Amino acid sequence: MSSRQYFDAVAREWDKMRQAFYSQAVREKAIAVAEVKPGKLAADIGAGTGFITEGLVQRGLWVIAVDQSEAMLGEMKHKFQDIDTVDYRLGEAENLPIEDEAAHYVFANMCLHHVENPPVAIKEMVRILKPGGRLVVTDLDEHNFEFLKAEHRDRWLGFQREEVKRWFIEAGLKGVKVECVGESCCSESSCGDEYASVSIFVASGEK
Ligand SMILES: C[S@@+](CC[C@H](N)C(=O)[O-])C[C@H]1O[C@@H](n2cnc3c(N)ncnc32)[C@H](O)[C@@H]1O
Repeated sequence: MSSRQYFDAVAREWDKMRQAFYSQAVREKAIAVAEVKPGKLAADIGAGTGFITEGLVQRGLWVIAVDQSEAMLGEMKHKFQDIDTVDYRLGEAENLPIEDEAAHYVFANMCLHHVENPPVAIKEMVRILKPGGRLVVTDLDEHNFEFLKAEHRDRWLGFQREEVKRWFIEAGLKGVKVECVGESCCSESSCGDEYASVSIFVASGEK
């Protein structure tokens, strides 16, 4: 099963699954780090059912929500049917369906460990940022819970912070920081013999 097929299959349950994996504190930290201002345009990459998008809309931002999974985007559209400040786009993180220098902020929460080529995805996120705009990526620190690959289609077992920092700098960002969110992503294996608790980092930089 591909990552897209996996997320298409779990789309209806994703909000419940997400609550068990990680808390709203992750989104609060990501949005605080970006220092968002109302009326600006943000892109949410690997937006899923709209966890980050929702927090941005609540703060008065316009959002372009991109995801590879039509079913995940469909769930978000259904949830936000009364909201007209979200533009839904089906697409890949490594080839974003967004024009150059369009967004004031770009967010990607728990998407990077699913993409085939993380540094290419980061370069794409920087391409769509306006000069002075901010990229904020929240994801997993490096870990060794292999069952997450088989059970949740994770492609990467998290990342080393130094590696993420280098990708941000190589993509042309300034003031790059990779900090601790102070939260973990938690998941039990399906047969109950393993329990993953992985710390979450927030990486940020300015174009
Ligand atoms: C773990 S979920 C996180 C969803 C959402 N950001 C959240 O925090 O609830 C990962 C999302 O990234 C999407 N995704 C994975 N690889 C992708 C890619 N290469 N391009 C676009 N979206 C991708 C998946 O379809 C899924 O919706």
